[in-house]
Amino acid sequence: MLEDLKQIAAQAEQRIRAARDAAALEQARIEFLGRKGGLLTKALQGLGKLPADQRPAAGQLANQVRAQIESLLTNRADEIEAQERQARLAAEMLDVTLPGRCQRVGTRHPVTQVMDDLKRIAIGMGFEVVESPDVDTYYHNFQALNYATDHPAMDEQDSFYLTDTVLLRTQTSTSQIREMGRRQPPVRVVCIGRCHRRETVDIRRGHTFHQFEGFQVDRGITFADLKGTLAVFVRELFGPETQIQFRPDFFPFTEPSADYSVTCSLCKGEGCDLCKHSGWLEIGGCGMIHPNVLRNVGYDPEQMSGWAFGLGIDRLAQQRFQIGDMRLFYGSDLRFLRQFN
Ligand code: DAH
Repeated sequence: MLEDLKQIAAQAEQRIRAARDAAALEQARIEFLGRKGGLLTKALQGLGKLPADQRPAAGQLANQVRAQIESLLTNRADEIEAQERQARLAAEMLDVTLPGRCQRVGTRHPVTQVMDDLKRIAIGMGFEVVESPDVDTYYHNFQALNYATDHPAMDEQDSFYLTDTVLLRTQTSTSQIREMGRRQPPVRVVCIGRCHRRETVDIRRGHTFHQFEGFQVDRGITFADLKGTLAVFVRELFGPETQIQFRPDFFPFTEPSADYSVTCSLCKGEGCDLCKHSGWLEIGGCGMIHPNVLRNVGYDPEQMSGWAFGLGIDRLAQQRFQIGDMRLFYGSDLRFLRQFN
Protein backbone atom coordinates (compact mmCIF):
# COMPACT_ATOMS: atom_id res chain seq x y z
CA MET A 1 0.00 0.00 0.00
CA LEU A 2 2.73 2.41 0.95
CA GLU A 3 4.51 1.58 -2.26
CA ASP A 4 1.34 2.23 -4.26
CA LEU A 5 0.96 5.62 -2.63
CA LYS A 6 4.56 6.58 -3.40
CA GLN A 7 4.10 5.54 -6.99
CA ILE A 8 0.93 7.60 -7.28
CA ALA A 9 2.80 10.61 -5.88
CA ALA A 10 5.62 10.17 -8.42
CA GLN A 11 3.19 9.70 -11.31
CA ALA A 12 1.17 12.73 -10.30
CA GLU A 13 4.26 14.90 -10.11
CA GLN A 14 5.32 13.87 -13.61
CA ARG A 15 1.84 14.48 -15.03
CA ILE A 16 1.45 17.86 -13.40
CA ARG A 17 4.83 19.10 -14.57
CA ALA A 18 4.01 17.98 -18.11
CA ALA A 19 0.71 19.90 -18.23
CA ARG A 20 1.08 22.75 -20.73
CA ASP A 21 -2.16 24.62 -20.07
CA ALA A 22 -5.04 24.95 -17.64
CA ALA A 23 -7.10 22.26 -19.36
CA ALA A 24 -4.31 19.65 -19.19
CA LEU A 25 -3.75 20.53 -15.56
CA GLU A 26 -7.43 20.02 -14.75
CA GLN A 27 -7.27 16.61 -16.39
CA ALA A 28 -4.33 15.68 -14.24
CA ARG A 29 -6.27 16.79 -11.14
CA ILE A 30 -9.22 14.60 -12.08
CA GLU A 31 -6.93 11.68 -12.83
CA PHE A 32 -5.48 11.67 -9.30
CA LEU A 33 -7.91 13.53 -7.04
CA GLY A 34 -11.21 13.05 -8.89
CA ARG A 35 -14.05 11.99 -6.58
CA LYS A 36 -14.94 9.09 -8.80
CA GLY A 37 -12.03 7.07 -10.14
CA GLY A 38 -9.21 9.38 -9.05
CA LEU A 39 -6.14 7.22 -8.40
CA LEU A 40 -5.54 8.62 -4.91
CA THR A 41 -9.25 8.51 -4.08
CA LYS A 42 -9.31 4.83 -5.00
CA ALA A 43 -6.22 4.12 -2.90
CA LEU A 44 -7.87 5.84 0.08
CA GLN A 45 -10.96 3.72 -0.35
CA GLY A 46 -8.66 0.67 -0.05
CA LEU A 47 -7.40 1.85 3.35
CA GLY A 48 -10.29 0.23 5.21
CA LYS A 49 -9.26 -3.18 3.99
CA LEU A 50 -5.79 -2.94 5.52
CA PRO A 51 -4.96 -4.70 8.76
CA ALA A 52 -5.52 -2.27 11.65
CA ASP A 53 -1.84 -1.90 12.53
CA GLN A 54 -0.89 -0.70 9.03
CA ARG A 55 -3.70 1.82 8.73
CA PRO A 56 -2.23 4.77 10.66
CA ALA A 57 1.02 4.83 8.63
CA ALA A 58 -0.84 4.39 5.33
CA GLY A 59 -3.40 7.06 6.27
CA GLN A 60 -0.66 9.52 7.18
CA LEU A 61 1.19 8.93 3.95
CA ALA A 62 -2.03 9.21 1.93
CA ASN A 63 -2.71 12.61 3.50
CA GLN A 64 0.84 13.72 2.75
CA VAL A 65 0.51 12.61 -0.86
CA ARG A 66 -2.80 14.52 -1.22
CA ALA A 67 -1.24 17.66 0.20
CA GLN A 68 1.77 17.23 -2.07
CA ILE A 69 -0.40 16.78 -5.18
CA GLU A 70 -2.53 19.78 -4.25
CA SER A 71 0.44 22.04 -3.81
CA LEU A 72 1.99 20.79 -7.09
CA LEU A 73 -1.28 21.62 -8.82
CA THR A 74 -1.41 25.16 -7.40
CA ASN A 75 2.22 25.88 -8.25
CA ARG A 76 1.85 24.57 -11.76
CA ALA A 77 -1.33 26.63 -12.26
CA ASP A 78 0.58 29.75 -11.21
CA GLU A 79 3.41 28.92 -13.59
CA ILE A 80 1.04 28.37 -16.51
CA GLU A 81 -0.74 31.65 -15.83
CA ALA A 82 2.57 33.52 -15.67
CA GLN A 83 3.69 31.97 -18.97
CA GLU A 84 0.44 32.89 -20.66
CA ARG A 85 0.68 36.49 -19.41
CA GLN A 86 4.23 36.69 -20.76
CA ALA A 87 3.14 35.42 -24.16
CA ARG A 88 0.27 37.91 -24.27
CA LEU A 89 2.53 40.82 -23.38
CA ALA A 90 5.07 39.78 -25.99
CA ALA A 91 2.33 39.66 -28.64
CA GLU A 92 1.01 43.09 -27.67
CA MET A 93 4.38 44.73 -27.45
CA LEU A 94 4.59 48.15 -29.06
CA ASP A 95 7.88 49.80 -29.85
CA VAL A 96 7.19 53.38 -28.86
CA THR A 97 10.57 54.45 -30.16
CA LEU A 98 9.68 53.67 -33.81
CA PRO A 99 9.31 56.81 -35.97
CA GLY A 100 5.63 57.77 -36.49
CA ARG A 101 3.70 57.62 -39.75
CA CYS A 102 2.61 61.15 -40.61
CA GLN A 103 -1.09 61.68 -41.52
CA ARG A 104 -1.28 64.69 -43.77
CA VAL A 105 -4.40 66.83 -43.58
CA GLY A 106 -5.62 68.12 -46.95
CA THR A 107 -6.13 71.81 -47.64
CA ARG A 108 -8.91 73.56 -49.54
CA HIS A 109 -7.89 74.69 -53.00
CA PRO A 110 -7.43 78.49 -53.11
CA VAL A 111 -10.14 78.80 -55.76
CA THR A 112 -12.49 76.71 -53.59
CA GLN A 113 -11.77 78.99 -50.65
CA VAL A 114 -12.87 82.03 -52.67
CA MET A 115 -15.98 80.14 -53.87
CA ASP A 116 -16.88 79.22 -50.28
CA ASP A 117 -16.55 82.88 -49.24
CA LEU A 118 -18.73 84.05 -52.13
CA LYS A 119 -21.36 81.46 -51.24
CA ARG A 120 -21.30 82.39 -47.55
CA ILE A 121 -21.72 86.11 -48.30
CA ALA A 122 -24.53 85.46 -50.81
CA ILE A 123 -26.43 83.26 -48.38
CA GLY A 124 -25.98 85.87 -45.65
CA MET A 125 -27.58 88.43 -47.97
CA GLY A 126 -30.56 86.19 -48.64
CA PHE A 127 -29.67 84.89 -52.11
CA GLU A 128 -30.52 81.43 -53.30
CA VAL A 129 -27.40 79.53 -54.45
CA VAL A 130 -27.89 77.37 -57.57
CA GLU A 131 -25.84 75.26 -59.94
CA SER A 132 -26.34 75.32 -63.66
CA PRO A 133 -25.10 72.85 -66.29
CA ASP A 134 -21.54 73.11 -67.66
CA VAL A 135 -22.81 71.82 -70.98
CA ASP A 136 -25.55 74.08 -72.24
CA THR A 137 -27.20 75.17 -75.47
CA TYR A 138 -26.48 77.99 -77.86
CA TYR A 139 -29.92 79.25 -76.87
CA HIS A 140 -29.11 79.64 -73.13
CA ASN A 141 -25.54 80.80 -73.66
CA PHE A 142 -26.15 83.37 -76.42
CA GLN A 143 -29.52 83.62 -78.11
CA ALA A 144 -31.77 84.13 -75.08
CA LEU A 145 -29.13 86.48 -73.63
CA ASN A 146 -29.84 88.79 -76.57
CA TYR A 147 -26.74 88.06 -78.67
CA ALA A 148 -27.51 88.70 -82.34
CA THR A 149 -26.35 85.89 -84.63
CA ASP A 150 -23.58 88.08 -86.00
CA HIS A 151 -22.88 89.93 -82.79
CA PRO A 152 -19.21 90.94 -82.44
CA ALA A 153 -19.28 89.92 -78.73
CA MET A 154 -19.50 86.32 -79.91
CA ASP A 155 -16.02 86.57 -81.37
CA GLU A 156 -14.72 87.47 -77.93
CA GLN A 157 -16.14 84.29 -76.62
CA ASP A 158 -14.82 81.73 -79.01
CA SER A 159 -16.48 78.58 -77.78
CA PHE A 160 -16.07 74.83 -77.56
CA TYR A 161 -19.03 73.40 -79.46
CA LEU A 162 -20.05 69.78 -78.92
CA THR A 163 -22.70 69.87 -81.65
CA ASP A 164 -24.07 72.75 -83.75
CA THR A 165 -26.26 73.89 -80.88
CA VAL A 166 -24.62 72.45 -77.75
CA LEU A 167 -21.48 73.89 -76.19
CA LEU A 168 -19.43 74.15 -73.01
CA ARG A 169 -20.90 77.32 -71.50
CA THR A 170 -18.71 80.38 -71.89
CA GLN A 171 -20.33 82.25 -68.99
CA THR A 172 -22.54 81.57 -65.98
CA SER A 173 -25.00 84.13 -67.36
CA THR A 174 -26.75 81.03 -68.75
CA SER A 175 -28.14 80.63 -65.23
CA GLN A 176 -30.16 83.84 -65.69
CA ILE A 177 -32.17 82.21 -68.47
CA ARG A 178 -32.51 78.84 -66.74
CA GLU A 179 -33.43 80.16 -63.30
CA MET A 180 -35.66 83.07 -64.31
CA GLY A 181 -37.35 80.73 -66.76
CA ARG A 182 -38.69 78.54 -63.98
CA ARG A 183 -39.45 81.16 -61.32
CA GLN A 184 -41.69 84.14 -60.96
CA PRO A 185 -40.31 87.39 -59.46
CA PRO A 186 -39.14 88.23 -56.86
CA VAL A 187 -35.97 86.38 -57.89
CA ARG A 188 -32.67 86.62 -55.97
CA VAL A 189 -30.22 84.02 -57.20
CA VAL A 190 -26.47 83.43 -57.41
CA CYS A 191 -24.72 80.74 -59.42
CA ILE A 192 -21.14 79.49 -59.23
CA GLY A 193 -19.72 77.41 -62.02
CA ARG A 194 -17.02 76.38 -64.43
CA CYS A 195 -16.82 78.07 -67.83
CA HIS A 196 -14.79 77.39 -70.96
CA ARG A 197 -13.45 79.48 -73.81
CA ARG A 198 -11.01 78.85 -76.59
CA GLU A 199 -8.22 80.87 -75.06
CA THR A 200 -4.51 80.48 -75.48
CA VAL A 201 -3.39 79.55 -71.98
CA ASP A 202 -1.10 82.10 -70.33
CA ILE A 203 -0.41 83.51 -66.87
CA ARG A 204 -3.67 85.50 -66.80
CA ARG A 205 -6.21 83.16 -68.39
CA GLY A 206 -6.96 79.53 -69.14
CA HIS A 207 -9.48 77.68 -71.31
CA THR A 208 -11.29 76.67 -68.11
CA PHE A 209 -12.16 79.11 -65.36
CA HIS A 210 -14.88 79.88 -62.83
CA GLN A 211 -17.50 82.57 -62.68
CA PHE A 212 -19.88 83.88 -60.12
CA GLU A 213 -23.19 85.29 -61.30
CA GLY A 214 -25.82 87.14 -59.27
CA PHE A 215 -29.16 88.61 -60.29
CA GLN A 216 -32.33 90.03 -58.85
CA VAL A 217 -35.66 90.71 -60.52
CA ASP A 218 -38.71 92.32 -58.96
CA ARG A 219 -40.98 95.31 -59.39
CA GLY A 220 -39.16 98.64 -59.21
CA ILE A 221 -35.56 97.36 -59.09
CA THR A 222 -33.08 100.08 -60.16
CA PHE A 223 -29.39 100.57 -60.79
CA ALA A 224 -29.18 101.92 -57.21
CA ASP A 225 -30.10 98.44 -55.92
CA LEU A 226 -27.29 96.97 -58.02
CA LYS A 227 -24.77 99.48 -56.68
CA GLY A 228 -25.85 98.96 -53.09
CA THR A 229 -25.80 95.17 -53.31
CA LEU A 230 -22.43 95.07 -55.04
CA ALA A 231 -20.95 97.50 -52.50
CA VAL A 232 -22.04 95.31 -49.58
CA PHE A 233 -20.74 92.26 -51.42
CA VAL A 234 -17.24 93.58 -52.12
CA ARG A 235 -16.92 95.00 -48.59
CA GLU A 236 -17.74 91.58 -47.15
CA LEU A 237 -15.19 90.10 -49.50
CA PHE A 238 -12.31 92.59 -49.32
CA GLY A 239 -12.95 94.51 -46.08
CA PRO A 240 -15.13 97.43 -44.94
CA GLU A 241 -12.88 100.17 -46.39
CA THR A 242 -13.27 98.87 -49.96
CA GLN A 243 -14.52 101.41 -52.52
CA ILE A 244 -16.29 100.40 -55.73
CA GLN A 245 -16.15 102.17 -59.07
CA PHE A 246 -18.44 101.70 -62.09
CA ARG A 247 -17.53 102.50 -65.71
CA PRO A 248 -19.77 102.20 -68.76
CA ASP A 249 -19.30 98.98 -70.70
CA PHE A 250 -21.27 96.85 -73.12
CA PHE A 251 -22.91 93.45 -72.66
CA PRO A 252 -25.73 92.26 -74.92
CA PHE A 253 -27.86 91.08 -72.00
CA THR A 254 -27.73 94.25 -69.90
CA GLU A 255 -28.71 97.87 -70.62
CA PRO A 256 -27.16 100.00 -69.31
CA SER A 257 -24.02 97.93 -68.69
CA ALA A 258 -20.94 98.66 -66.63
CA ASP A 259 -17.75 97.10 -65.46
CA TYR A 260 -16.78 97.56 -61.85
CA SER A 261 -13.50 97.85 -60.00
CA VAL A 262 -12.63 97.82 -56.32
CA THR A 263 -9.86 99.46 -54.30
CA CYS A 264 -6.72 97.39 -54.82
CA SER A 265 -6.60 94.96 -51.91
CA LEU A 266 -2.80 94.94 -51.89
CA CYS A 267 -1.90 98.67 -51.88
CA LYS A 268 -5.29 99.95 -50.60
CA GLY A 269 -5.49 102.31 -53.56
CA GLU A 270 -1.99 103.76 -53.42
CA GLY A 271 -0.85 102.08 -56.63
CA CYS A 272 1.25 98.93 -56.98
CA ASP A 273 2.26 96.30 -59.54
CA LEU A 274 -0.87 94.21 -58.90
CA CYS A 275 -3.22 97.08 -59.88
CA LYS A 276 -0.79 98.40 -62.50
CA HIS A 277 -0.44 101.56 -60.38
CA SER A 278 -4.07 102.56 -60.88
CA GLY A 279 -5.20 101.81 -57.32
CA TRP A 280 -8.16 99.80 -58.74
CA LEU A 281 -8.73 96.15 -59.58
CA GLU A 282 -11.32 95.31 -62.19
CA ILE A 283 -13.56 92.53 -60.92
CA GLY A 284 -16.37 91.98 -63.40
CA GLY A 285 -19.34 93.24 -65.37
CA CYS A 286 -22.87 94.20 -64.41
CA GLY A 287 -25.95 96.06 -65.55
CA MET A 288 -29.72 96.21 -65.69
CA ILE A 289 -31.13 93.08 -67.31
CA HIS A 290 -32.09 93.88 -70.93
CA PRO A 291 -35.85 94.00 -71.64
CA ASN A 292 -35.34 91.39 -74.39
CA VAL A 293 -33.87 88.97 -71.85
CA LEU A 294 -36.81 89.53 -69.51
CA ARG A 295 -39.16 88.86 -72.42
CA ASN A 296 -37.26 85.69 -73.36
CA VAL A 297 -37.94 84.22 -69.89
CA GLY A 298 -41.59 85.26 -70.00
CA TYR A 299 -41.46 88.37 -67.80
CA ASP A 300 -43.10 91.66 -68.75
CA PRO A 301 -40.38 94.37 -68.83
CA GLU A 302 -43.08 96.98 -68.23
CA GLN A 303 -43.82 95.36 -64.87
CA MET A 304 -40.50 93.89 -63.81
CA SER A 305 -36.91 95.03 -63.80
CA GLY A 306 -33.70 93.51 -62.54
CA TRP A 307 -29.96 93.71 -62.32
CA ALA A 308 -27.21 91.16 -62.89
CA PHE A 309 -23.51 90.98 -62.22
CA GLY A 310 -20.74 88.52 -62.96
CA LEU A 311 -17.17 88.08 -61.82
CA GLY A 312 -14.19 85.83 -62.45
CA ILE A 313 -13.42 83.70 -59.39
CA ASP A 314 -9.95 82.59 -60.48
CA ARG A 315 -8.89 86.20 -60.92
CA LEU A 316 -10.12 86.96 -57.40
CA ALA A 317 -8.14 84.04 -55.99
CA GLN A 318 -5.10 85.19 -57.97
CA GLN A 319 -5.43 88.64 -56.39
CA ARG A 320 -6.17 87.44 -52.88
CA PHE A 321 -3.24 85.03 -52.72
CA GLN A 322 -1.05 87.10 -55.03
CA ILE A 323 -0.40 84.33 -57.48
CA GLY A 324 1.45 85.62 -60.52
CA ASP A 325 0.72 82.67 -62.80
CA MET A 326 -2.88 81.40 -63.08
CA ARG A 327 -1.62 78.05 -64.40
CA LEU A 328 -0.39 77.14 -60.90
CA PHE A 329 -4.03 76.74 -59.82
CA TYR A 330 -4.52 73.87 -62.23
CA GLY A 331 -1.10 72.21 -62.10
CA SER A 332 -2.05 69.97 -59.14
CA ASP A 333 1.42 70.51 -57.72
CA LEU A 334 1.06 69.64 -54.03
CA ARG A 335 4.03 71.81 -53.07
CA PHE A 336 2.03 74.78 -54.35
CA LEU A 337 -1.38 73.70 -53.05
CA ARG A 338 -0.20 72.88 -49.51
CA GLN A 339 0.56 76.54 -48.87
CA PHE A 340 -3.15 77.44 -48.62
CA ASN A 341 -4.58 76.42 -45.29
N1 DAH B 1 -20.95 87.05 -68.50
C1 DAH B 1 -20.05 88.19 -68.60
C2 DAH B 1 -18.69 87.68 -69.08
O1 DAH B 1 -18.43 86.54 -69.01
C3 DAH B 1 -19.91 88.88 -67.28
C4 DAH B 1 -21.14 89.61 -66.92
C5 DAH B 1 -21.30 90.91 -67.35
C6 DAH B 1 -22.14 89.02 -66.19
C7 DAH B 1 -22.43 91.63 -67.04
C8 DAH B 1 -23.29 89.71 -65.86
C9 DAH B 1 -23.42 91.04 -66.30
O2 DAH B 1 -24.30 89.20 -65.17
O3 DAH B 1 -24.54 91.73 -65.97
O4 DAH B 1 -17.90 88.49 -69.54
